[in-house]
Amino acid sequence: MNTNTNANRTNILECNNYESVKELIYTHLGISISEKDQEEFFHKLKPVMSAYNCKTLDELFQLLLEDPNNEILGEIANKITTNYSYFNRETNHFDFLRSKVLPELVAELRKKSTFKLSIWSAACSTGEEPYTLGILLREFLGAYYDNWIVSVLGTDISSKVLKEAKNAIYPLERVEGMPADLFLKYFDRVDPQTVKVKDEYKKDVGFRVLNLKHNGYQFREGFNAVFCRNVFIYFDEKMIDHVAMNVHRCLDKGGYFFIGVSETLGKRNTNYFEFIAPGIYRKK
Ligand SMILES: C[S@@+](CC[C@H](N)C(=O)[O-])C[C@H]1O[C@@H](n2cnc3c(N)ncnc32)[C@H](O)[C@@H]1O
Repeated sequence: MNTNTNANRTNILECNNYESVKELIYTHLGISISEKDQEEFFHKLKPVMSAYNCKTLDELFQLLLEDPNNEILGEIANKITTNYSYFNRETNHFDFLRSKVLPELVAELRKKSTFKLSIWSAACSTGEEPYTLGILLREFLGAYYDNWIVSVLGTDISSKVLKEAKNAIYPLERVEGMPADLFLKYFDRVDPQTVKVKDEYKKDVGFRVLNLKHNGYQFREGFNAVFCRNVFIYFDEKMIDHVAMNVHRCLDKGGYFFIGVSETLGKRNTNYFEFIAPGIYRKK
């Protein structure tokens, strides 16, 4: 145990590129790592080091400095911001979507004979959030589901978590937030502790890599709602504003923007978004 700690300390001390890496991470991810978080940051990178066969942090950082768009950047972002997620997380948001957003939106779209619904789950990690949304939309539309073009897109900076999302295999505890009837309908058991989303429902959700720090997110059409939850806590104001402005552009008029319940867009964005409830905003 002690030997390990010492070995890790040696790696950390061997890191000569840190200042450049810190700058690169801020430029490419909008995340600033304070001095007090430095050791924890190094600690979080251990799995990334072994995934890329790097014996020292310097080796890993060298790969990143040589090519800042290397997929390592995504894995580092993923480790800094913790990829933990689970089904039906922060249930109030899903209740709001079901009871307030969808009844109004679907009625309005029906009037216009536009049978299209589209939701984006940004920074979706291993896919629990977009699958929760896919299930919610199916349940909401019920027998009419097949008459609609429904799209749920999950994006994340890390291709590794998106691979897991596409597999849709989860430890049982991450699904415990789902009501029993939905659990039985949408999941298959893999073993007593593992479940998977049934194949016929997996296809309801598409996935792709997207770094929120990039400019002008490219989508063919606007979204009715965007979820981007539990990642703003790691971003500074400048990055939050950057994401908020880009999401604003991607939302249809009156579209909803969901962020984590303990996160905020700040007063700065009130010209563009109306605050509705904790973690819920509406495009003005
Ligand atoms: C805590 S998870 C959030 C998962 C889900 N939204 C939820 O609330 O359960 C944070 C995710 O943000 C992703 N992430 C971090 N920085 C990002 C960036 N610049 N662009 C896109 N995704 C990012 C990470 O890879 C990680 O999967």
